[in-house]
Amino acid sequence: DIPSLHELFEEDFPIGAAIEPNQTSGPSSELLKKHVRWLVAENVMKPDAIQPSEGQFIWTNADRIVEFAKENNMQVRFHTLVWHTQVGPWFFQDAEGKPMVDETDPKRQEANKKLLLERLDTHVRTIVGRYKDDITSWDVVNEVIEPGDPDGMRASEWYKIAGTDYIATAFRAAREAGGPEAKLYINDYGTDNPVKRDLLFQLVKDLLEQGVPIDGVGHQTHIDIYGPSVDSIIASMRKFAELGLDNLVTELDMSIYAWNDRSDYGQDLPQEILNLQADRYGELFKAFRQNKDILSGVVFWGIADDHTWLHGFPVARTNAPLLFDRQHQPKPAFWAVVKAARTE
Ligand code: G3I
Repeated sequence: DIPSLHELFEEDFPIGAAIEPNQTSGPSSELLKKHVRWLVAENVMKPDAIQPSEGQFIWTNADRIVEFAKENNMQVRFHTLVWHTQVGPWFFQDAEGKPMVDETDPKRQEANKKLLLERLDTHVRTIVGRYKDDITSWDVVNEVIEPGDPDGMRASEWYKIAGTDYIATAFRAAREAGGPEAKLYINDYGTDNPVKRDLLFQLVKDLLEQGVPIDGVGHQTHIDIYGPSVDSIIASMRKFAELGLDNLVTELDMSIYAWNDRSDYGQDLPQEILNLQADRYGELFKAFRQNKDILSGVVFWGIADDHTWLHGFPVARTNAPLLFDRQHQPKPAFWAVVKAARTE
């Protein structure tokens, strides 16, 4: 008999998965109903999906996920109010349609910044206002840190036009529209990397000191079977907890290839690779349970290996980063996670 992940971890933290709207019916939906209690939209709540052009809001796809969640006693986390990719270019064009980043006149730059922040404020308030009774957990900004860019802040159009004010504006608007129950997260990948972690820590600390309402850090946790270490993942959560912040694992998956490896095993995956993945998933969930005081949810970026972004990144190939295989059968990794749930 296959146990339910959700039931196994009920006393530790909720388990979630990112999905596309079409997964709310068919075989994926059965897997979701059995194993998860949190849902995240893999793409359809991103800025360009919800507001592709100014003032044109499209809710159909997002609503499908919210409705499916309601029917099945699940919660939805929102991903993501702000991002530098999957965002309509109209956000960053001035009244004449010119790219704001090309502006050199300081007065016009100031006017552009004001316009951008107004558009952002409207985007956030409209979405949070619509879903505040159904959604309480929000990725407010996504991937704003980039150690290779000046000041360690990602040199996105948001940052080039508005500096860090876009982050403060998004959090403030989300708090005002969502009220005190809304849990507001800053989400990023590679938060285990000490350089990136410390840049994120300093940013969050500065924003909190300015009174910006941030409740927690979302750790995407796109990892692979060789790294990073479980200890470094937990150490980062501990550091943010010291600031009084909550932690979430928001996009967990585990590639079967090292990050800089571009080879392809094809469909016949080596057993030793699946076993290695199982060991690491087991170790990870053991650590998650031991640290559940600072971790309040674990969301997978997908549910089974038939559908994962890693089939297309960094090259088109077979990958198998999740707990269920392409036929939706439990993998060795699933059983290792079950064991971690049952071990004191
Ligand atoms: O919907 C269009 C379709 O109309 C078009 O014909 C087709 C042609 O390329 O593209 C479709 O859009 C794709 C979209 O997913 C929806 O399927 C994009 O090409 C594709 O790039 C996009 O990929 C998504 C990626 O974010 C974009 O950056 C992945 O599905 C999604 O899993 C991934 O998720 C991100 C998180 O949001 C943030 N953290 C990292 C994570 C993995 O990259």
